Amino acid sequence: MTTGIKPEWTRWAEEAKAEFPAAQSALLPFLHRVQAAEGWLSPEARQAAADLLGLSRQYVESVVSFYALLRTEPVGQRVIHVCTSLSCALAGADELIANLERKLGIAVGQTTPDGRYTLLEAECLAACSLAPACQVNLRYVGPVPPEEADRLLQEEVDIREDT
Ligand code: FES
Repeated sequence: MTTGIKPEWTRWAEEAKAEFPAAQSALLPFLHRVQAAEGWLSPEARQAAADLLGLSRQYVESVVSFYALLRTEPVGQRVIHVCTSLSCALAGADELIANLERKLGIAVGQTTPDGRYTLLEAECLAACSLAPACQVNLRYVGPVPPEEADRLLQEEVDIREDT
């Protein structure tokens, strides 16, 4: 049993169980709620999911590792996904990423020291008509030509509840 379970985790687990009585079905809504609020799923939150929903930690870990959008590492306030699949690659995604890396002073997969930005590559975002397409938190942005990297960094998004 986890010590230090946050009161809101308990509340969210109860709400998820009320909507989805089977514990396995309540897990994803609970995890999504935690990630939306905190940006990632800490080890403590994953253990709380197991304890509060009556699941094994192993089961929780298997679900978390299956879904690429569930995060087990902290991220910045703005998570930038740049699609590098074919349409976006042909439209300059690699150059856009290089410009973003230079402007942010980080490499893909990293978070800026001030915690504002995380830069990630993504497979096709199903927004090929926006190539090169990006997501800032959950907002689609595109086309973003490589020379417009600054515009992407200034994109206004809701923080956290939108991640
Ligand atoms: S190839 Fe980039 S959104 Fe589809």
